[in-house]
Amino acid sequence: MKFKLTLMAGLLLSARLFAQQHAEQDHSKYVAPTDPLVQQKLAKWQDIKFGLLMHWGTYSQWGIVESWSLCPEDEGWCERRGPHAHDWYEYKKAYEGIAKEFNPVKFDPERWAAAARNAGMKYVVFTTKHHDGFAMFDSKYTDYKITNTPFKSNPKSNVTKEVLAAFRNQGFMTGTYFSKPDWNNEYYWWKYFPPKDRNVSYDPKKRPELWNKFKDFTYNQIEELMSDYGSVDILWLDGGWVRPFSTIDPNISWQKTIPYDQDIDMARIAKMARSHQPGLLVVDRTVTGEFENYVTPEQSIPDHHMPIPWESCMTMGDSWSYIPKENFKSTRKLVHTLVDIVAKGGNLLLNIAPGPDGAWHKEAYQRLEEIGKWINVNGTGIYETKPLAPYRQGKWAYTQKGKTTYAFYLANENEKLPATLKPEGLALTANTRITLAGNKKALKVKNGGIELPAKVITEAGVQPAYLFVID
Ligand code: GLC
Repeated sequence: MKFKLTLMAGLLLSARLFAQQHAEQDHSKYVAPTDPLVQQKLAKWQDIKFGLLMHWGTYSQWGIVESWSLCPEDEGWCERRGPHAHDWYEYKKAYEGIAKEFNPVKFDPERWAAAARNAGMKYVVFTTKHHDGFAMFDSKYTDYKITNTPFKSNPKSNVTKEVLAAFRNQGFMTGTYFSKPDWNNEYYWWKYFPPKDRNVSYDPKKRPELWNKFKDFTYNQIEELMSDYGSVDILWLDGGWVRPFSTIDPNISWQKTIPYDQDIDMARIAKMARSHQPGLLVVDRTVTGEFENYVTPEQSIPDHHMPIPWESCMTMGDSWSYIPKENFKSTRKLVHTLVDIVAKGGNLLLNIAPGPDGAWHKEAYQRLEEIGKWINVNGTGIYETKPLAPYRQGKWAYTQKGKTTYAFYLANENEKLPATLKPEGLALTANTRITLAGNKKALKVKNGGIELPAKVITEAGVQPAYLFVID
């Protein structure tokens, strides 16, 4: 009986998960931008494929999940720890008190930008403000900010400005992650009602005067970012529960739990932002419509080719924020992730989390260096390519550029090339011109399979993925 029940529950759960995933991967509702400048920027962004996301804030000092321990929800990622955990009010005070200690003296954004560039990354998205409300920029609308910490005397204290400039200097497109919800702002978590969960703590319909103040605050902070920080290409807005009721998708379970209409007036924000940054990509995550210029599956890769602009954001380790003992994915896994995503038409935004002193783990540098070695040879099949059916099949992934077809063979760990290989789902004839990326030798095709001479196999060595260039 128990077994049967568990089985039933399991089946129901997987059916629900399937429906949910299906709803999240449903690209039919995507609204393409009509502004030619936005279209151009979007096309440019789709060509560059590989970006860096960084989650950095005072939470890094405690080595905990970003912001979420402030949120009174019964979810694993909201769990509080440490001496103040038993009392939410005390905990919030202590958490916000980290700002009095935060002093990332090893902050060196040029080093980050150089490492990311050498790995083949071409855009950056930086957390200017996460849900906790701590501004990693010199906002005049809050005191809870980086320029109000012991780091304030450092000439690089306005870290958002420094990060964007350092990456821009390396030719990167730049993006600002900004959380719409703000758990430090009294017009979001109004003190009269204790917060119950991630949402605004009062009903904005009943108290429009409070909500309007919050709307203005959000607008003003975004205007600071859009006007004082040089050219910005992407406004990446997180906290999808801050959205009009009318945009809720009833097929997505978390959206159904949103208790209040939280219309932040995206039309007004986008208009202002684009008046400072013409052609700006606005990514109002999960709020399908005019202000979601591309969609952003999180820690996941769609199971099929999606013919709209999209980006998977994923962590290089397990956590978005710095944790002392991080469990980094292998270079092979990271390369496969990039290839898989590009073959399905998307971009990869890979997260690295700086520590409290402003340094990355040494493993992060190592992974980037190894990815760079691979991409120097094989990037030709990544950048500026378009997907090509059958996209992904077995251990194969395909892209194309002009008349060239790129066929990636995703190898097992330590797998060398075999003597013959047959790309799945791709018909080759004896006159097809094929080379292995980085090797000039023309390869022969026999019975639809690529013949690999011993010398080519040796020269190729062991790679996470091998790229065949087919003309
Ligand atoms: C998840 C996390 C959030 C993080 C985001 C990045 O939603 O909860 O903290 O910023 O992923 O995509």
